[in-house]
Amino acid sequence: MIDEDRIGAGALSADGVAADVVLAEVRQLRAGDRPTHGGRLFAYVYDPAVPGLDELAAAAHRESAHVNGLDPTAFPSLLAMENALVAAAGRVLGGGPGTTAPDVVGSVTSGGTESLILAVKAARDAHPEQVAPRIVVPASAHAAFAKAAHYLRVALDVVPVSPDTLRPDPAAMAAAIRPETVLVACSAPSYAHGVVDPVAEIAAAAARAGVRCHVDACFGGWTLPYLRRLGEPVPPFDFAVPGVTSISVDLHKYAYAPKGVSVLLHRDATLRAPQYFAYADWPGYTMINPVIASTRSGGPIAAAYATLRHLGDVGYLALAERTRDAVVGLAAAVRGVDGLRLMAEPESTVVCFTATEGGPDLFVLVDELTARGWYTQPQLSYAGLPASVHLTVTAAVAPRVAEFGPDLADAVAAARAAGPVRLPADLAALAGALTPDALTPELVAGLAAGLGLGAEPVEGSGPDGGSTAAPLPERMALVNTLLDAAPPALRERLLVEFVGLLQRPAW
Ligand SMILES: Cc1ncc(COP(=O)(O)O)c(C=O)c1O
Repeated sequence: MIDEDRIGAGALSADGVAADVVLAEVRQLRAGDRPTHGGRLFAYVYDPAVPGLDELAAAAHRESAHVNGLDPTAFPSLLAMENALVAAAGRVLGGGPGTTAPDVVGSVTSGGTESLILAVKAARDAHPEQVAPRIVVPASAHAAFAKAAHYLRVALDVVPVSPDTLRPDPAAMAAAIRPETVLVACSAPSYAHGVVDPVAEIAAAAARAGVRCHVDACFGGWTLPYLRRLGEPVPPFDFAVPGVTSISVDLHKYAYAPKGVSVLLHRDATLRAPQYFAYADWPGYTMINPVIASTRSGGPIAAAYATLRHLGDVGYLALAERTRDAVVGLAAAVRGVDGLRLMAEPESTVVCFTATEGGPDLFVLVDELTARGWYTQPQLSYAGLPASVHLTVTAAVAPRVAEFGPDLADAVAAARAAGPVRLPADLAALAGALTPDALTPELVAGLAAGLGLGAEPVEGSGPDGGSTAAPLPERMALVNTLLDAAPPALRERLLVEFVGLLQRPAW
């Protein structure tokens, strides 16, 4: 029976909890996370290891957290910071006064995915006459394009990438453009392998067809220009390339701002116009939204502004140099281990490797690295490309590189000794035969339990000693092997169900 006077549950405490106790709870919960700092986590986080930067960003965030980007006339501070971020991104990416793209404009979004969705929306809505619009992307393009296509009901034409270069053939990209195509996209670089697409050729083909060309520089847009200044052979990919109509760059990646900030740039305001949503046909305020969110916190924008102002051009150049040195060191470590090979020679800030014939089981290797405190990202095999291990390298990794090589060699030896994961016969048969539609919640719950993916919450792991997170197995090789054996549609369904099991109210 619920006590009506004490109805708290989960985050809602019954009587209010003292601030220091609440903070202690947050810190206790955070203790179970992967380490965001220290250069041992090679995905999800971007750490420059600059003393005081976190504190500065947090202070700036606090100043503007309650400011609302809904109305730029009410909060001119936010408009000013947003315009300053757009100018900075435009300048870094070859636009602005004195360049061949003097009229670049942009918007600050919440992240790369939102920037890409809006690039697709702008392209789609520039062509209301197209009843069945399409976009062309390389197979290596970020999954957010597929999400954009799905949300916006735009068809996705996927051009394969070469297993050798991991890039699309520009001629194949050109050939994929149809009368209904509203956008051609490419990456600088791709997330999975860190290679830069042939932007100049692709943009030229798009321009010939009269179609927009978006360069997804969400990941690399803030490092490639600095790597070029350091003498690296970075191919043209920005607004200096004719035919490039829009570019996205995430400030919460290599601009090292706290999460929640990306910039979507267009070559001119006409190209940007169809990105906006306006609505006056209701009794409330007229809604004019350049981005998907309407109410927007000023916190992330102020934090990004403070980060850019503080680090400055010279700071980013130094961070790019440190990152480049780390990439060189990690790639050398991979080359030095028998049984591994680089998927591509690093040309940005990704080191990606796979196993050679007779090499270790990659998923076991990932577990062995985890056991040694190195958190890497396994990537499943896909369309003729082998499974691989992805390392997003940031400046914080540089002081760790010397430790990585011996641990990698050690982990490979352990993975070889353990041998490859063998899927139990019933699971292997299931992965091969199951269709996504045949997956019932009961079947998934059974599978999850069999794989050690907790269906039961951990007692005492939540605030107030309640239950919260479901446990994950320490070793993920079995799960990854099962997913690797499944076709993409089944991977999606399985993971949707698994994540659904994790996301449930912490009563
Ligand atoms: C190339 C690229 N594009 C888009 C995205 C999506 O960015 P976000 O996770 O900020 O939505 C990423 C994220 O890693 C990326 O690497």
